[in-house]
This record gives sequence, structure tokens and C-alpha cells, in this order.
Amino acid sequence: MNPSPEPGAAAARPLRLAAIGDLHVGEDMRQPYRDLFARIAQEADVLALCGDLTNFGKTPEAEILAEDLRVCTIPVVGVLGNHDYECGQPGEVARILHDAGMHVLDGEAFEIGGVGFAGCKGFIGGYGRHMLSAFGEPEIKAFVQASVDENLKLETSLRMLRTERIVVVTHYAPVQATVEGEPPEIFAFLGSTRMGETIDRFEGVRCALHGHAHRGAYEGRTPGGVPVYNVARPVLNRDLGVEYALIEV
Ligand SMILES: [Fe+2]
Ligand SMILES: [Fe+2]
Repeated sequence: MNPSPEPGAAAARPLRLAAIGDLHVGEDMRQPYRDLFARIAQEADVLALCGDLTNFGKTPEAEILAEDLRVCTIPVVGVLGNHDYECGQPGEVARILHDAGMHVLDGEAFEIGGVGFAGCKGFIGGYGRHMLSAFGEPEIKAFVQASVDENLKLETSLRMLRTERIVVVTHYAPVQATVEGEPPEIFAFLGSTRMGETIDRFEGVRCALHGHAHRGAYEGRTPGGVPVYNVARPVLNRDLGVEYALIEV
């Protein structure tokens, strides 16, 4: 007879989380991530994809990625990036990836193995006291409102979760530390402090993952001390010499 598991024993088991962003799948690619996804499925319990999954948000690009995702036998969770919006059909791109088994986070939450995943694409706006505020022309106010609205999605998804361990997935960077390495002139277009502040308001966030800043740094922290990892492919390849990040949660 099997002994009864201790209360909370399942929640204590570490989850092996593979993470990668900025796949930028193009129409001319053939099975670009098939072998990688098959290997990840052997090494990890969950795969998180941090946006810019396609190059221009074209449906043929999404279908090429969807085809490769079907060999990934572990749960896949992810967000879209700005490139996935380029053709004006992010809903269609999300639907194709969802049909291939990816849990697309856009203000929703998802739980696997006792770990909650919260996320959305996120948006830009800048960091710290230099973050753009809603003052002046209607265009500026609309821009700031887009950043506020996107951050509300992140807040909503975090509020849905009741797990002790939470992972946040976005495309844009919630802290400045992981965009360092990019030209300082474009920091404000790489993410926003709003998301970092939201992450710090919730207990149990073990790490935040993002992409987008191809020339940024791998590791940073929110002001509250939550580890932040920039898993954009070029960063992983160049700084760590790996094809994907593997993080125990
Ligand atoms: Fe990208
Ligand atoms: Fe991007």
C-alpha cells in the first residue's frame, strides 16, 4: 500500500521550466524548431515562449511554428510579441498556435504542476521616473493608456492564481536591467516599469520571463527582488551559449 502523500508534497516538487523568446519564424523556414522542441520535451516539464514567435504575424509563419509545436509533448505556455501583431491579425496567429496546443496568455492564467503562469504581451513606456506619463496631447494619453491597459491584463492574470509559485511571462521587459546593452535611446521602447511594479505587488512570483530586447542582458531583478530573465534567442545564444533557458521553479 502506498503511503499517503504529505500535504503540499506535490506543490514542493521543482518544475523544470524551459524558456525562449523571439523565435521569429519566417515563411521560408522549414521545420526550424522541430528538433529543438523535441529535445526540450525530454529535458523540461513546461515550455514558455516569450513572444515574437513569427517574423511578421503572417498565418503561414504561425502554421510553420504550429507544425513544430506538435512534437513538443510537454505543456506549452506563451505570449505574442509585437512582431506577431505586424499583419494586424494577432487573434488568428494566437488561434493557430492555440490549436497546436499552446496556452496563449493575454490576461489569462494557467496552472501546471502546482505552478501558476500569468502573462500578456505587455507594452512600452520607459522606466523609473522617466516613464512616460499621461500629459498633453490626446495621442500621448492614448499611448500611455495602451500601456496601462496591457498592465491591467497582467494584474488580472496574477489575481486569478492561487498557487504558491507563480511565473510571469511577457514579451516586453518589466525592468531596465535586462534591456541594458541596447542603445539607451530606445530603453523606453523595450518595456515599462509598470509591469515590474505589478509583479512586486503579488506574493509568490518566483521569476519573470521576457524577450524583445535582443541586445539586452540575461538577468535582472525587480525592485522587490524577483528574478527577471531576458530569454530572447540572441541573448541566450550570445551570452549563455545555449538554445533555451532551463530554470527550476
Ligand atoms: Fe524580437
Ligand atoms: Fe519584439
